[in-house]
Amino acid sequence: MNFKGTIKSKMPKQETSIFAVMSALALEHKAINLSQGFPDFNISAELINLVHKYMKKGKNQYAPMTGIPELREQISLKVESLYGTKFDYQKEINITAGATQALHTAIAATINEGDEVIVFEPAYDSYVPVVKMHGGIVKFAQLKLPDYHIDWNEVMKLISSRTRMIIINSPHNPTGSILTDTDLKMLDKLTRNTDILILSDEVYEHLIFDGNRHESICRYPELAQRSYVVGSFGKTFHATGWKLGFVLAPENLMDEFRKAHQFVVFACNTPIQYAITEYMQDKNVYRELGSFYQQKRDRFLELIRGSKFNVIPSYGTYFQLLEYSRITDEPEIDFAIRMTKEYKLASIPVSVFYHKNTDNKVLRFCFAKKEETLKKAAEIICRI
Ligand SMILES: Cc1ncc(COP(=O)(O)O)c(C=O)c1O
Repeated sequence: MNFKGTIKSKMPKQETSIFAVMSALALEHKAINLSQGFPDFNISAELINLVHKYMKKGKNQYAPMTGIPELREQISLKVESLYGTKFDYQKEINITAGATQALHTAIAATINEGDEVIVFEPAYDSYVPVVKMHGGIVKFAQLKLPDYHIDWNEVMKLISSRTRMIIINSPHNPTGSILTDTDLKMLDKLTRNTDILILSDEVYEHLIFDGNRHESICRYPELAQRSYVVGSFGKTFHATGWKLGFVLAPENLMDEFRKAHQFVVFACNTPIQYAITEYMQDKNVYRELGSFYQQKRDRFLELIRGSKFNVIPSYGTYFQLLEYSRITDEPEIDFAIRMTKEYKLASIPVSVFYHKNTDNKVLRFCFAKKEETLKKAAEIICRI
């Protein structure tokens, strides 16, 4: 069946997300899937039991539009104890249907026709289409290889009187790079006394390695005053399928967010909000996440030692970039597809995170996987 009229597409050039494409290809070719970012091990049994408990207790109807107050209060306490800034849980915190919805709604609520938004490439795939959907103009800044750092001189040149927002993401998907104190101070310097908003995607806030500290926007009060900070319980509690996240913002920015949020989802999953409220009171459930994933990263690197791929250091997230110029000069997409079909291992070509498909011969592998999955994947990597 098809609509017979004319469709004026709002996103005429938008293709299906590479994650959907690679995961479908992995399934078709029975390949090990290190492409999409999700764990292949189960989540905490305690957390599952808590959801069950609250469902049986009758917490099955609409939650408040802003999220249940108990969960917002827990988030406020956690953010204050980790990063030192207190967010008023009534006015400055909102629960969302995953980070994706929080990102979308923050952009929808603040970006008008012709507003400029600075995005760093390679960039998580949802930012650019959403900015464009709302009439914004994307200005691309390039993260500099080999360590994917920000060139602040380039950012300075991109800022104009039309700049409305800068989107940052640390720890960074797809590269595993992290922002430093110097980066945040430069961001502060460049945005002081301007109307520029910051959208800070911090979904991997706890997945940080080698003794590094997560430089949350919430550590920098001046920056926090102009920012939407986005988090994801899906990433933190290994439950990406639950699609629950949150956003922090100063009151007047949150007011704008809520005006849009109420007509996007209105409210989010109720029993899961109650379950997470109780679960996160034990700080160890997120405190140990960095060392948990660092062990996985180290194990993966140990298993692929001696392969022809070159390792690009990952300081956070659950992604590892591997550069393959010693193997082939095929473009990333071709090589990733061939690897999936011939070698039965799916990854993500990093070129898809660039608007011009910049090709540096780098693939992204997700190591949030069981030992046996990592072993099988590493055997293949060592054979290529
Ligand atoms: C950088 C980044 N932001 C946002 C998201 C979306 O998070 P959620 O699953 O909570 O919507 C992801 C998921 O992969 C991500 O990697």
